[in-house]
Amino acid sequence: MTATTPYSGETVPAPEGFVWGAATAAHQIEGQNVNTSHWEYEYSENTTVQEPSGDAVDSYHRYPEDISLLAEGGLKAYRFSIEWARIEPEKGVVSRAQLDHYRRMIDTCRDAGVEPIVTLHHFTVPRWQGRDGGWYATDVVDRFRRYTETATAILDDVEWVVTINEPNMMVNQDEAKIDTENGVNFPGPSPHVAQVIAAAHHASVDVLRGLGHVKAGWSVANQVFQAVPGFEKERDDWGYWREDYYLEQARDDDFIGVQSYLRTIIGADGPVPFPDDVERTLTGWEYYPEALGHALRHTRDVTGGIPMMVTENGMATADDARRIDYTTGALQGLAAAVADGCDVRGYLHWSLLDNYEWGSFRPTFGLIAVDRESFVRTPKPSLAWLGDLAQRNVLPAP
Ligand code: BGC
Repeated sequence: MTATTPYSGETVPAPEGFVWGAATAAHQIEGQNVNTSHWEYEYSENTTVQEPSGDAVDSYHRYPEDISLLAEGGLKAYRFSIEWARIEPEKGVVSRAQLDHYRRMIDTCRDAGVEPIVTLHHFTVPRWQGRDGGWYATDVVDRFRRYTETATAILDDVEWVVTINEPNMMVNQDEAKIDTENGVNFPGPSPHVAQVIAAAHHASVDVLRGLGHVKAGWSVANQVFQAVPGFEKERDDWGYWREDYYLEQARDDDFIGVQSYLRTIIGADGPVPFPDDVERTLTGWEYYPEALGHALRHTRDVTGGIPMMVTENGMATADDARRIDYTTGALQGLAAAVADGCDVRGYLHWSLLDNYEWGSFRPTFGLIAVDRESFVRTPKPSLAWLGDLAQRNVLPAP
């Protein structure tokens, strides 16, 4: 690791009480998440993954170290997900021990002065739910409501809860793939499943609201659809079931999670491939830090201005200096959006750790590197760089 140079450019104050942190998801970091249908898929004969998740980065056992490193790096919040497949290993069977495990994670955050931000569902379903059809199962709304009720047992003092991560990226889960050429993550939307997921989300929010102290919302993948001039209608049609529907569904929520990485340019027949000479990240996406500012404004416009939390933003790169550049650009866009009246409550970088990027460990998004043999963690300069902004509560000036 090389020494970190704090951000020396001009800064503006971040909003008061701004939440600074980093995010992860259970399946991508825990390891041995054997009861999810994703695990089953990774080890099936017809899998398309490049490599299975295996031990991932063993955060299931090493979370105390991960939370300490986050806090020592200067960050103040940790967004992580709890795993439905561990908590409800068979339909209707609740594991107290696994609930206790996640409660210990919340306690560990609290002891370290770190705000826990809990995601109930981050892409993975239990095997039994997968066999029943995943989000196509007839009783999935009820199952998700009951799972939320089960989770409330450990949410006593948790203020921020994300019900479902990127519902818009799951609509065609069976065929989901990342089309790196076009930056589009799924082949086509299903309005039926979108409505089912929205119903599950609303049911979950109702349960969480019953606790009295929780701010509940979901996190939507913002793809920053931009029109080739003259194709604005095509852009809007393309984006509705892929994004705007999910933003509309958040209008009565306590907040919305904004997740931003890239833009997608829409022409007559959908996404237009990027020219060969654009800089690309390790996921094949265009390097476009401006995306976050656009995502915040668009979310504000479609939701009518409910509070926003950036629940994911980051870059897959082996060059940590480039990660810092990307994050600088993204935070400048955030600062400009705030100046323009956007109500932004926090920024959670994706990701705290290098992790399992849904098929491969190669795209490294982490503020902390992990040796995949020894699981030794090594903070990258970007961690302390971001932590310094957090400690000063300032944003790079636009
Ligand atoms: C997901 C993460 C993923 C990240 C980078 C988001 O779509 O929520 O699980 O690792 O983007 O691809």
